[in-house]
Amino acid sequence: MTLQEKLLETIQYIHEQGVKEVEFGLILGSGLGELAEEIEDKVVIPYANIPHFPVSTVVGHAGQLVYGTLAGKKVLAMQGRFHYYEGHNMQVVTYPVRVMAGLKAHSLVVTNACGGVNEGFTPGDLMLITDHINFMGANPLIGKNEDEMGPRFPDMSKAYDESYRNVAKEVAASKGLHLKEGVYMGFSGPTYETPAEVRFARIAGADAVGMSTVPEVIVAVHSGLRVLGISCITNLAAGMQANLNHEEVVETTERVKVAFKSLVKETLAKL
Ligand code: HPA
Repeated sequence: MTLQEKLLETIQYIHEQGVKEVEFGLILGSGLGELAEEIEDKVVIPYANIPHFPVSTVVGHAGQLVYGTLAGKKVLAMQGRFHYYEGHNMQVVTYPVRVMAGLKAHSLVVTNACGGVNEGFTPGDLMLITDHINFMGANPLIGKNEDEMGPRFPDMSKAYDESYRNVAKEVAASKGLHLKEGVYMGFSGPTYETPAEVRFARIAGADAVGMSTVPEVIVAVHSGLRVLGISCITNLAAGMQANLNHEEVVETTERVKVAFKSLVKETLAKL
């Protein structure tokens, strides 16, 4: 079965569940999935029921699509994403973004938990993603290009929409929230980085490191979606604090989720 044939079946199934117009796709990262609970007139679709959808293996990820209205916008949210480190190939990791594009979403709001590399960052900071470095060792567009889906050589010069970023900054300022900005560098994981890798990331121009987002944004750009990316700095990256663990990542997202949710919602309202 070709990718297009699979997509048609997936999209038909999602339509049959009551999903109509979609404006914004939302990918909610580790600990950030609660935002989906604020979606009104919900349609909830477990990934396990969706034809051709992979199944999430990460604890703390609900593994469902939530459709409805958020901040007056029609959204389709992923409560839990697929990661390269789970063993999925990049086409699988990004399949939901293809589905969002197929459902005619015009934009993607992508969120994640990540480690702070910039010495000015503190755990609990929210960071607007200005750009990324693909250091995952793979690219979801490798293989034959389907020209009707997007260009062979997508331009990544403006992957993270500047006017969306400006809106997020205005919203943050109006709330007295110190929104950081920076470059997200994607590693494959599942190991956290070594201190040497973190020093390398800083020299390379990264402000934060994580294990997601990059493939999804590449496919979003390929599909012509406008992208807004917001990271939660859950910890300082390796070598900048005593040790790293997933519990701290979860604790930090828990601590900042109110600010995170209101930033995303209020920004969405103005997009
Ligand atoms: N590195 C990579 N991914 C992460 C981190 C980190 O320090 N924190 C949360 N996700």
